[in-house]
Amino acid sequence: MKKTFTLIALLAISFAAFAQTTQQLRADNISEVVEAMTLQEKARLIVGCGYDSLIVVGKQTGRQIKYVPGAAGATAAFPHLGITNTLVADGPAGLHIDSHRKGESRTYYATGFPVGTCLACTWNTELVRTVGEAIGNETLEYGCDVLLGPGMNIHRNPLCGRNFEYYSEDPLITGEIGTAMVLGIQSQGVGVSAKHFAVNSQETDRERVDEQVSERALREIYLRGFERMVRQSKPWTIMAAYNRVNGTYAQSSYHLLTDILRNEWGFDGIVMTDWIGVRADLAIEDAIHAGDDLMMPGVPAQVENIIKAIEEGRLSIDDVNTSVRRLLEYIVKTPNFKGHKGSNNPDLKAHAAITRQSATEGMVLLKNTGILPLQSVDTVALFGVCSYDFLSGGVGSGCVEVPYVIDMLTGLKNHNISTTTQLTDIYTNYVKYAKLKLQADKNPMMWFLDQGQPKVDEIDITTRCINHELPSADAAIFTIGRQAGEGMDRTVENEFNLSTQEQGLLFRVSDAFHAAGKPVIVIINSGSVIETASWRDRVDAILVAWQPGEEGGNSVVDVLTGDANPSGRLTMTWPVSVYDHPSTLNFPQDIDMYSYKRLESRNRPIKNMTYTRHEEDIYVGYRYFNTYNKQVAYPFGFGLSYTSFAYSKPTAKLKGENIELNITVENTGDNAGKEVVQVYANAPKGGLDKPAKELRAFAKTRTLNKGEKQTLTMTLPVTDLASYNEQTGKWEVAKGEYTFFFSANVEDTRATAQMNIK
Ligand code: BGC
Repeated sequence: MKKTFTLIALLAISFAAFAQTTQQLRADNISEVVEAMTLQEKARLIVGCGYDSLIVVGKQTGRQIKYVPGAAGATAAFPHLGITNTLVADGPAGLHIDSHRKGESRTYYATGFPVGTCLACTWNTELVRTVGEAIGNETLEYGCDVLLGPGMNIHRNPLCGRNFEYYSEDPLITGEIGTAMVLGIQSQGVGVSAKHFAVNSQETDRERVDEQVSERALREIYLRGFERMVRQSKPWTIMAAYNRVNGTYAQSSYHLLTDILRNEWGFDGIVMTDWIGVRADLAIEDAIHAGDDLMMPGVPAQVENIIKAIEEGRLSIDDVNTSVRRLLEYIVKTPNFKGHKGSNNPDLKAHAAITRQSATEGMVLLKNTGILPLQSVDTVALFGVCSYDFLSGGVGSGCVEVPYVIDMLTGLKNHNISTTTQLTDIYTNYVKYAKLKLQADKNPMMWFLDQGQPKVDEIDITTRCINHELPSADAAIFTIGRQAGEGMDRTVENEFNLSTQEQGLLFRVSDAFHAAGKPVIVIINSGSVIETASWRDRVDAILVAWQPGEEGGNSVVDVLTGDANPSGRLTMTWPVSVYDHPSTLNFPQDIDMYSYKRLESRNRPIKNMTYTRHEEDIYVGYRYFNTYNKQVAYPFGFGLSYTSFAYSKPTAKLKGENIELNITVENTGDNAGKEVVQVYANAPKGGLDKPAKELRAFAKTRTLNKGEKQTLTMTLPVTDLASYNEQTGKWEVAKGEYTFFFSANVEDTRATAQMNIK
């Protein structure tokens, strides 16, 4: 007994001595822990744990760690210093983790929320914040620390394959929606990694392409959204893009990562690289010196490279310590450090309700001859593969393993609308067959890519069905689907534009239904813009459903039936032709998206692949179309409603450093609904060349009942009117008279107010 007591006492004394000499990480002893770490440990902290983090982390720490299968990466743990692993997982439309785990019968589904574009088109920051809270909650409950999103790149051109993850062609809406998303996610005690910083507006050759852009366009278009979000929401982390900007990799750009992000905007979190590993032409010391703190996903060679760079004097220990300090500041905030045990049971049902409602607010009604909301439609003829195999989100890291997807067929059924049986049978069987065939071909990925494309046999059979189905249908619904995603841009033919067969089927459906006096409704189930000008006159209604998340079909039919009044407005221009965008001339077009063959010629410069010239400069999207009076299919900010709104005479007043804008909106129609007021401003002549109008503020009403009014107040600092002067390197607000255009879209001004800025 005495012996045991002595042993315990000795152990206690030696443990106390150990604890005194070995720092255990806390929020208030970070400097001491940095001091206590060896160079090897520091290097291992700066380098992520690799793709297969479970194995690598296990090896590094010599112990089994908590890991979430499907998470994108992890930071290393050092138990003797109290440094825990942290886990990061994609992505912008919901948590991307594996839904199934080896040896377990239960599932780990995450909610598929509307893609970024759909969320932005709500113009509703409060709603986006609610979605962010739900995504943050799933991140926390599934044991992760950082959600790799939001995606904040600018829709420079509609052909970018990842536009669905991004918000807009405009930096103000990008910054405001991004802020709301970050505040929502981070309110749950987890972090974000806003990405891809910066100018990652194309996927083709993304790991190498040099985005050549003027400093003014960089500041005013590509960085401004990030700037707003960083200043307003303090993201824990930023992800540095793969591409180069003006000759330097974003990941080794001191100008971007330190001068601008940290010194000008006051960012105090960590910068992680996009998932690249070792690059032959980027020295790790340059990345760390520029301001990258975490190399993701991380490969062991990078640890050696850091140590070697220090030994050879190419990298200073101060730079290493700075990154390590920032990493520790990040780690102490994380749930895994705080010992949070995720429940693995987020409230998926409650989140499904959030996704269903938010999706309806982001959908944009482009056309309505008066047939919507649907009345006395009991049976529809339902065309298009995606009606039966609806696209809830995009592909790549931004996709979510969802528990289910409500397709159009189910969405209609849930609203007591039936479909004609023969056509539905044909499509249902076709979808089954096509999926099985692709599985048998061992290329299921192709189904995702192909899904939106009508097949020759589909067209053939369904065309023969039209006349047979016509008598029993009250209307036709035709879903046009488009899929896109990471690593590939879109093509013009058969993708941005409808294929000949697809258009042929649509025309045959519309001719037959119109001859019988029955309407045709098109649903666009795509993450980004498609061509509409050549076919829109042949149909009665067009609803852009985007890729609206797992409740997709329910949300679409909520809008079609009028359960939800559409209040989404476009956050990007829909051009007549894709070639109308000036940026299309400098976009790597018509790369075959099913083969990477052209990319194999990596060692030879191909115009606009190894580099991309931003010749349009600041004239991106509506800034170009509106300034140069170029006709569009649907302008920026456009969207119809089932009601109408009147705008009062607005006011614009200077209050100190701020401008206060006021307007009263009245619902003058018959249905309850929400309006988005967009305020564009022009600028006085003289000074820098400027677009005719730029979005400077916006606000969305609450649901207004018939006859109800709401006064909206928008406040913006005068400095928001500034443009970037490359000669002086300063932001300038031109003096003189400004007009504020209170508008329903960029081409539809309802009221104006003037103000003089001295
Ligand atoms: C993507 C990122 C993503 C990361 C981790 C990269 O390829 O560009 O957006 O967060 O992978 O999955």
